[in-house]
Amino acid sequence: MKTKILNKATIKEGAALINAGQLVAFPTETVYGLGADATNEAAVKQVYAAKGRPSDNPLIVHVADIETVQKYAQPLDDASLKLMNTFWPGPLTLIFKLKPNALSKSVTGGLDTAAFRFPANQATLDLIITAGVPLVGPSANTSGKPSPTTAKHVLHDLDGKIAAVVDDGPTKVGVESTVLDMSVTVPTILRPGGIAKEQLETILGTKVNDEHHHVGVTEVPKAPGMKYKHYAPNAQVYIVNDDNDWTAVRDWVAAQTKPVGIMTTDDIKNQLDWPANAELISLGNDVISASHLLFKELREFDNRNDVDTIIVKGFEPTGLGAAYMNRLNKSAGQTYVGELLK
Ligand code: TXA
Ligand code: MG
Repeated sequence: MKTKILNKATIKEGAALINAGQLVAFPTETVYGLGADATNEAAVKQVYAAKGRPSDNPLIVHVADIETVQKYAQPLDDASLKLMNTFWPGPLTLIFKLKPNALSKSVTGGLDTAAFRFPANQATLDLIITAGVPLVGPSANTSGKPSPTTAKHVLHDLDGKIAAVVDDGPTKVGVESTVLDMSVTVPTILRPGGIAKEQLETILGTKVNDEHHHVGVTEVPKAPGMKYKHYAPNAQVYIVNDDNDWTAVRDWVAAQTKPVGIMTTDDIKNQLDWPANAELISLGNDVISASHLLFKELREFDNRNDVDTIIVKGFEPTGLGAAYMNRLNKSAGQTYVGELLK
């Protein structure tokens, strides 16, 4: 199969492919998604095959209006409507109890709930509206790899396996949406993301729980996706949580013969006298730019065979930092730079 590259002006072609049961990758404000008609079970099954995704990991249903959610979900409470009216379109995925048999098992992974998201990207909203059906959309990467933030990343993983990709340039946020479970008594974050816990609590006027702890292999996770190895490049990633460690990192790098990947902020990059084998990548100045660049730069290093160590700056795990640190911890398998320096 030859994967077509579409854009805003050729959305009709993408919608026709969706209606024909084909896979079309689409842009969002977070990362690129792998789209298929959520009401076509055969098409949804192909999504799992293309990604190499375990079949018990349910998919997000992408919509272009709140009415479509109401069609599938049990009646929505005031808190849910308030969240939708405040944060949609935007990087917040909400989990609701479904009406009986409203969506196929391949979408829900057999759960009695489903995840819904109204993405903030006009090309994709046009795709959903023109196709006339909601789209399932996991991140459009090979399972286990960093999520794609450009159409080029999508093609790197899925060229020849999907009918088309809609190219709308690099995504803004760079990490995926916040997944919030609204099917339980206390709203619970299953995956931190583009909307911070603090923002949700402000709008709801109540406490929000966190459940994005590390899930053991034998434990049944609330968000099935959380138990799998994720965002992992081939190189080993080490996290630097204390800025005072960077001088020791520089000295360690200077003692190596091979190139070492360094992803850090401009000040650390510019202030230290780095040796020539330090492959320095700027994450900008703050956690917003760092989140935007994290997956992209991990992928850049992944395309090189000569770098087997990547050292990355950590941030405070609050606000967007909770999402950044969640993804970085998974890429690193919870490995800290102290391991290298001891
Ligand atoms: O930003 C995003 O959310 C991107 C873009 C493309 O929209 N999508 C994305 O999808 O990250 P995916 O499939 O890579 O991650 C969805 C997460 C998984 O961890 C999955 O287990 C969880 O949401 N999830 C989906 N449905 C669920 C449900 N009914 N209950 C609990 N967790 C669910
Ligand atoms: Mg994913």
